Amino acid sequence: MLLQGKVILITGGASGIGEACALAYAREGAVVAVIDKDPSALRGIQAQLGTPHSFLQADVSQGADVERAITTVLQQYGKLDAIHNNAGIAQPSKPLHETTEAAWNEVMRVNTKSIYYTTFYGIVALKATQGSILNTSSLVGEIGQEQHAAYAGSKGAVNALTKAMALDYAPWGIRVNAVAPAGVWTPMLRQWNLEQPDPARMEQYLDNIHALGYCPGTAEIADVCTFLLSDKARFITGCIMPVSGGAELGYKHQI
Ligand SMILES: NC(=O)c1ccc[n+]([C@@H]2O[C@H](COP(=O)([O-])OP(=O)(O)OC[C@H]3O[C@@H](n4cnc5c(N)ncnc54)[C@H](O)[C@@H]3O)[C@@H](O)[C@H]2O)c1
Repeated sequence: MLLQGKVILITGGASGIGEACALAYAREGAVVAVIDKDPSALRGIQAQLGTPHSFLQADVSQGADVERAITTVLQQYGKLDAIHNNAGIAQPSKPLHETTEAAWNEVMRVNTKSIYYTTFYGIVALKATQGSILNTSSLVGEIGQEQHAAYAGSKGAVNALTKAMALDYAPWGIRVNAVAPAGVWTPMLRQWNLEQPDPARMEQYLDNIHALGYCPGTAEIADVCTFLLSDKARFITGCIMPVSGGAELGYKHQI
């Protein structure tokens, strides 16, 4: 049991990568507080996990929501060992000049500013436990992506934040890391795929970009997240860990 006794808050934990992580953390002995804005998805994961875990509807782009969720978790469990900032949106799939200001603001608020809120309201609790922060980034934050400028920018900011926060919180023994998948078959990727000019071709492309030969499911990511939040990773901080089947080694060359 790699996470026995830990209280872990995960945002966007009701679907996709977050759902797989919440289930994996619970299997490894953690108490999981699942934060999500989607009430029906929350009911779905609540049916799978039940007690002693908790399921809180909150929009991570709203400071008041995040403050309320963290306060509730602390009242319920008395401590917080980890925050996994996983909630994210992938729209819009456009170059920057075609991105509306509203869409730009939304992707930055959900993918990036949410980390400000969870840190602002959660850091005191994490200092008390020498806890850990994990951010779900993306390979595109490092190598970019066509037709996805605001999203890539938001994940580049997540990578920079991960390193800056790792330095700032190391004196408290708080580790801050990120995972960077390439593609992962989740509802988000399925939706993004449908928005592409040729979804069938894109599906083939998504398999091919991974050197290991396939676009993974969520379990591959959840296993690495479990490791990074466990004491097995006690000397790892400021790491943007690719969980990408080697996609970055030949990303641009295989269509
Ligand atoms: N799927 C991929 O190929 C892929 C690749 C790299 C990185 N990622 C990243 O992984 C993370 C999870 O993505 P996913 O593919 O599992 O997506 P998903 O859409 O399947 O799940 C995202 C979850 O976040 C929730 N969410 C969205 N906005 C929210 C908000 N404002 N407040 C609270 N909850 C919110 C959604 O309701 C949903 O349950 C994201 O940060 C994404 O950028 C995904």
